[in-house]
Amino acid sequence: MSITIKNESEISKMRIAGKLAADVLEMIEPFVVPGVTTNELDQLCHDFIVNEQQAIPAPLNYRGFPKSICTSVNHTICHGIPNEKRLKKGDIVNIDITVIKDEYHGDTSKMFGVGQISPYAKRLIDITQESLFLGIEQVKPGATFGDIGHVIQKLAESNRYSVVREFCGHGIGKKFHEDPHVMHFGKAGEGETIEAGMIFTIEPMLNIGKRQMKVLKDGWTAVTKDRSLSAQWEHTILVTDDGHEVLTLRQEEM
Ligand code: MF3
Ligand code: CO
Ligand code: CO
Repeated sequence: MSITIKNESEISKMRIAGKLAADVLEMIEPFVVPGVTTNELDQLCHDFIVNEQQAIPAPLNYRGFPKSICTSVNHTICHGIPNEKRLKKGDIVNIDITVIKDEYHGDTSKMFGVGQISPYAKRLIDITQESLFLGIEQVKPGATFGDIGHVIQKLAESNRYSVVREFCGHGIGKKFHEDPHVMHFGKAGEGETIEAGMIFTIEPMLNIGKRQMKVLKDGWTAVTKDRSLSAQWEHTILVTDDGHEVLTLRQEEM
């Protein structure tokens, strides 16, 4: 495993890519309402990224992925493919945006409730977001990747949620997915040591039911085997000399 350390010029480009990805999530928010199709959301994001940001939607044609964003509804864990189905009141949906600007990637996702959602769904969404930020808080030189996974798993399981294991956070830069694999479970003090200049994502996926998943015949859509609700949040994080900087922070999080 070789984790790249980014220099100042790469970090500046990653800051820009991260900001653009965050901006897409802010742009799409008012459109995530009952009756909209995920294809419409995909088109809006695609056009915004290409025409307004003069950037590239990284998912499009990535290993054969057919759309510009991922939309993962209800029991879909991740990598949902936008389609003609309309969102309805009470659905929860993760929108995952990755843009490439000046050769560098920014990757971020958040959960949206469609109209009013159930308290069960809301709680899952909130704890999953909290687990992401607990994980982010661990990030500083000298900590280990196990420290991140440990706090996420602990919070999830103490709330009787399960952590999906098949998908991880990842290093990111010129490549969409680089070393290391950032696990969302594990033991404190284990794994590689975190160093300044590393950039990686943290993107925990928590299920209300069991952690087991399966991938649908389309080769992408990952769903919970027991069809329980699943939530995910993702940020791209830079390790600084004294901690971290979230490159994909949105206004609402500042
Ligand atoms: N954005 C996803 C991640 O967080 C990866 C999506 S791959 C795609 O790593 F092909 F489905 F877009
Ligand atoms: Co990612
Ligand atoms: Co992503």
